[in-house]
Amino acid sequence: MTDVTTDDGVEDAATLRAAMVRELRDQGACQSERVAAAFASVPRHLFTPGEPLAVAYAVDNAPIVKRDGNGLTLSSVSAPHLQATMLEAADIKPGMRVCEVGSGGYNAALLAELVGDGGHVTTVDIDPEIVERARTFLNEAGYNRVDVMLTDAEEGVLDAAPFDRIIVTAGSWDIPPAWIDQLADDGRIVVPLRLKGTTRWIAFDRDGSGLISRGYGLCVFVPFQGAGSHTERTVTIEDGVVLRLDDENLKVDIDALRRALHLPRIERWSGAVFDMPDEQALFLLTNSAGMALLHANQEAVDRDLIARPALKGVPVLIDGDSFAYRAARPNDDMSSGYESGVYAHGPSAEDLAARYADLLRRWADRYHRRGAASIQYLPKAADPPAPSSGIIVKRHGTVVVTWP
Ligand SMILES: C[S@@+](CC[C@H](N)C(=O)[O-])C[C@H]1O[C@@H](n2cnc3c(N)ncnc32)[C@H](O)[C@@H]1O
Repeated sequence: MTDVTTDDGVEDAATLRAAMVRELRDQGACQSERVAAAFASVPRHLFTPGEPLAVAYAVDNAPIVKRDGNGLTLSSVSAPHLQATMLEAADIKPGMRVCEVGSGGYNAALLAELVGDGGHVTTVDIDPEIVERARTFLNEAGYNRVDVMLTDAEEGVLDAAPFDRIIVTAGSWDIPPAWIDQLADDGRIVVPLRLKGTTRWIAFDRDGSGLISRGYGLCVFVPFQGAGSHTERTVTIEDGVVLRLDDENLKVDIDALRRALHLPRIERWSGAVFDMPDEQALFLLTNSAGMALLHANQEAVDRDLIARPALKGVPVLIDGDSFAYRAARPNDDMSSGYESGVYAHGPSAEDLAARYADLLRRWADRYHRRGAASIQYLPKAADPPAPSSGIIVKRHGTVVVTWP
C-alpha cells in the first residue's frame, strides 16, 4: 500500500490511520484486537478519493458519495466510529461467510480482513454506480476476493447463502424474510432498523423462527431503497412544526393540535435525571400509546412557538387536542447535571405532562443505563403478540420492544 503525503508534507495516510485507530480504541468503538487490526490494515483513503486525508480518516466523518435530486443522501462511506461499533457487535470470526447489504468497498475490505483467507465476503448494492465504485476500489486496494453484486437486497443473495453474518448498512424499516431464511442457524444479523421514526443498529441472533437482540445503539443511515423502501407519514401542524408518525393506527387531529400549539405552554419538572437521550427516547416511544416524534425548525423556535428540544426531534405524547414533549434543565443534584421535564400544550396539558413525567421517572428509576431494552423480531407466520405500546407492526413481521 502506498501512503500519500499531504501538501504540507506533515501528515500521511499511515499516520492518520494510526491516529484513527487510537481514537476508535479510546472511544470504545474498537474493543477487540482483531477489529482494531482490520482498521489499521485497510487504507480508507483509497475508498474516499477526492476527500482530504484528514477527512477520510476522521472517526465521525461519513463522506457523501451520492445524493438524489432533492439533496437526500443515497450513498456514503459510513463513519469509522459506527463501522467499528457494528463490526464489534457482529462478532465476525475467521472463516465466516458474510453478506454486506449496501456497498462502498471500505467496510467490505474490513470484513475481508476479519474473515481472512478461509472466509468469504459478498457485498451487494442496488445502485450500479456504487457497485462499480466498490469493485474498482476493492481491486485497487487488493481485496479482489470480495464479490460485489448489483441487486436489490430485499431478496437477499440466495446463490451465496447461507451466511454466518449479514451486515446491513442502509436504514431498513423492516426485516425481509430472505435475510432470516438465508442466515445460518447460529447466524447474526446486524441491521439499522427504523423504530418509531428513529434508527437503532440492532445485533439480532436467531430465536426460533424469529430474532432476538444481543445489543443495539443509536445510528443514522441512508434509507433502504427498492422493494423494501418505506415512506414515513409526516404531518405539519404549523409552518416549521412537524410530527413524524410511524404508527398507522395513531390518529391526529391537526386543527386541534394547531390550536393547542398557540395556547400557553406549561412546563413541569420530573425530579429525575436527564441522561442518555437516545436510550430515554426509546423507552418513551415504546411505553405509551400516542407517542410520535416532534420536529421543529429554528424559525419556529425563534418565534417561541415551540421549545428547543424539538430542533433535534423529541418524543411527543399526543392525546386528542393536547400534546406534551420532553424538556431538560441544568440541575446539580442530578448525576448528569441535568433534570428531565415536560412542555405541554392544550386543554389537557396538565394531565399529559403528569403522564409524561411519570414515564421519565420510571426510565430514570429502572432503566438508566445503555442497552436496557430487549428487542424481538417475530416474522408474520409466528403467533401475533397482544397489542401494546412496545409492539411495532411491520410489513413482514412485528418488532416487540420489552423492558425486563
Ligand atoms: C451507507 S451506504 C453503504 C456504505 C458502505 N457499506 C461502506 O463501506 O461504508 C448505503 C448503501 O446502501 C445501498 N442500498 C440502499 N438500498 C438498497 C437495497 N435495497 N439493496 C442493496 N443496496 C441498497 C445504497 O445504494 C448505498 O450505496
